[in-house]
Amino acid sequence: MSNRGSFSNKLGFILAAAGSAVGLGNIWSFPFEVGAGGGAAFLMVYLFFCFILCFPVMVTEIAIGRKTQLNPAGAYEALGFKKWRILGILGIISGVVILSFYNVVAGWAFGYFIELLSGHFEIGSQFSTFIKDVFKVGLYAMVFMFVTAFIVSKGVSGGIERASKILMPTLITMILGLVFYSLTLDHAFEGIKFYLVPDFSELTLSVMGNAMGQAFFSLSLGMGALITYGSYVGKNDNIVTSAAFITLADVGIAFIAGLMMFPMVAYLTNGTMEGAGQGAGLIFTVLPGAFESLGPLLGVVIGSLFFLLLSFAALTSTVSLLEVPVAYIVDEKGIKRRRAVWIMATIIFVLGIPSLLSNGYSGFFTSFITYVGAENATSFMDFAQNVANDTFLPLGGCLISIFAAYAWKTQNLNAEIALGYPNYMGSFIQKYLNFAVTILCPLVLGTMFLLTLLQTFFGVTLF
Ligand code: PHE
Repeated sequence: MSNRGSFSNKLGFILAAAGSAVGLGNIWSFPFEVGAGGGAAFLMVYLFFCFILCFPVMVTEIAIGRKTQLNPAGAYEALGFKKWRILGILGIISGVVILSFYNVVAGWAFGYFIELLSGHFEIGSQFSTFIKDVFKVGLYAMVFMFVTAFIVSKGVSGGIERASKILMPTLITMILGLVFYSLTLDHAFEGIKFYLVPDFSELTLSVMGNAMGQAFFSLSLGMGALITYGSYVGKNDNIVTSAAFITLADVGIAFIAGLMMFPMVAYLTNGTMEGAGQGAGLIFTVLPGAFESLGPLLGVVIGSLFFLLLSFAALTSTVSLLEVPVAYIVDEKGIKRRRAVWIMATIIFVLGIPSLLSNGYSGFFTSFITYVGAENATSFMDFAQNVANDTFLPLGGCLISIFAAYAWKTQNLNAEIALGYPNYMGSFIQKYLNFAVTILCPLVLGTMFLLTLLQTFFGVTLF
């Protein structure tokens, strides 16, 4: 266990876990998923999933991690359930898949920092050419993976913690500043209306499925990232309040990213909101124009700083994504931490190459699949994102709840939570968490999973 290290204190854990949660999921994919999902209707479902269903899964993951002090696969086994290892492995695979495409998008963000630093605001309208340039983007992505691996190889408290402490508050301040700016733009009100006034006719099964997947992805849940981070938490820490803080911070930041984006989209489209549903390019096409309107000097400063901080936010997430398979091979295969890090980073970078090629460079990967029912998923990258975020993560969350309730048993879960929370037993939150893991999460997440499978593979659409 000497290879593992631990967080120096409670705040260190919370900041690192919040760093894992807050990333491209909040600032890149949340706004484009809202845009594609028709606006406020998506937001409502998203909030429901985050607070009602994901929060109990988060508490459970952290509790399992702290109890066993192990990686996801080892954790289930250590609790006495060897067969459940497979759930840990599923999570580790999800993490590897996510990091493979996530790193490419992180490369875009980092590339935009460089472009805007040189005052190249036209990059917004040249986004599709930019992502097609696989050598440039590949280099940025490689740098990104290298920095991620370097931080992870430094160990938990040295690298992950120190990075989270300074950068997150700066990013939040910056987004808030941009919210105020975007609210002053013409047509801002139309953008806000799109974002906050729901039109429930937009609510289809695939919108709900995307909202569910986005909630899990953004909160870093369903794959064991928080089992791994939970394994570094002290026994006296209160898991429930930590999870509440992480959830609120994550949802809060996604929410303000939406407040920043939609007035800008409204401004650029004269209030029509056309293009809000364009998908993965949303922030990359919209933001440079908005920065340009701040004037040449301020535009360069704010624009490049924004993408630099976005890259840092992505970095605290890639670090946690890499940490999962690394902890697994350190614990289970007895490989030295440093070696494990570089092996996994190389493998995952290579696995990301199809995603890199799938944005116009290779015809094969660009129109990889016409994935029935998931209308946006045609490129390999969209496909990987769909399978990992919308299918694997919620399935993982469903199975983690089932594991806690029916294999490990709620009394053991409760005993672990109560260690750092003296009044937990008998409280309302205890009753709710137990109800959620035994009934609500398995039922809702399981049903959603089955419906999505039916729709995706058999073309059966119930609503
Ligand atoms: N939550 C991260 C984000 O929003 C991504 C992530 C997913 C990180 C799963 C770890 C595990 O960007």
